[in-house]
Amino acid sequence: MLQDQKRCETYREAILEAVRPGCSVLDIGAGTGILSLFAVQAGAQKVYAVERTSIAEFARQMVKINGAEEWVEVIQGEMETVELPEKVDVIVSELLGHLGVDENLLPPMLIARDRWLKPRGRILPGRVSTWMAPVEDKKMEQDLVFWRSRPYGMDLSLIAYAVAQEVHRRRKDIRMDHLLAEPRRLWTTDLYAHSTDKAHLPFQASLSFLATRQGSFSALAGWFCAEFDNRLILTNAPSAPDTHWGRVTFSLERPKKVHPGTEIMVEFTCESAGPSDTLSRWSVRVGEEPWEHHVQDKLAPGGEVQHMSKERKPQ
Ligand SMILES: C[S@@+](CC[C@H](N)C(=O)[O-])C[C@H]1O[C@@H](n2cnc3c(N)ncnc32)[C@H](O)[C@@H]1O
Repeated sequence: MLQDQKRCETYREAILEAVRPGCSVLDIGAGTGILSLFAVQAGAQKVYAVERTSIAEFARQMVKINGAEEWVEVIQGEMETVELPEKVDVIVSELLGHLGVDENLLPPMLIARDRWLKPRGRILPGRVSTWMAPVEDKKMEQDLVFWRSRPYGMDLSLIAYAVAQEVHRRRKDIRMDHLLAEPRRLWTTDLYAHSTDKAHLPFQASLSFLATRQGSFSALAGWFCAEFDNRLILTNAPSAPDTHWGRVTFSLERPKKVHPGTEIMVEFTCESAGPSDTLSRWSVRVGEEPWEHHVQDKLAPGGEVQHMSKERKPQ
């Protein structure tokens, strides 16, 4: 993440613009403390760097090595429950998942906004939207063909089923020429205005695409667009310079032929599944064909959902 210069430079520019000398800043999910150090570069008088994991100790060392101990206080704890001695002028945070809100961005940000942001304080980023488009994903098509080809004389088609329920992240290979239709926005979250009561609600969207070209529709690709107040944008869109996020893809069971004007209907849901994790469901209909339904990490047709949250995955 720290080598992702697009990510780091966009945050740095936004922080240098928003943080005035003498400001107080809250860095939510400080990690190594990089955003807190940017705030010190901008002239912040006091920075509270809140981090839930033991990387907080590493952040303390980073702050010390960079001579910023006078200004940065690293606090190890959950943002939702930590106590600060004062309200702040600026909240900055990089809790962006591949779809923006899908690493539970909202609960810590909104609770911190309500408790610790001064009236007319700034939030970086201030708005996050989520986008999607149907794509031709030859790599996924080849994987599914392999699992269904009786490799080693075995029926491994169950793996094809499981792969088609997986959420495939960091897909830098998915670019504009893979798109089969104009992208559509699923939702926009205004971090200044979004109600804290709705922070944990599932995100849901119903979308209709019209194919703009002939091709084989094998996945949905998703990305986010994070806006900072001064119109700076950080995005992992297929049209933008690369970031470490790449695109996230949601596969179909089998590719479906589409032609210019073919209607593609999508129902998409993203719900909370643990402190930094979400569970996605996607249903797809092409023209008059029946709906095809997917649940993230469902391992077998008809079986129970065996979603493995990050917390339960073997290390
Ligand atoms: C994507 S990393 C970003 C780290 C750093 N801000 C940066 O930009 O490099 C997100 C960090 O937020 C922390 N985090 C997530 N939710 C949190 C919460 N509710 N309270 C405190 N820390 C949290 C995670 O442990 C992780 O270290």
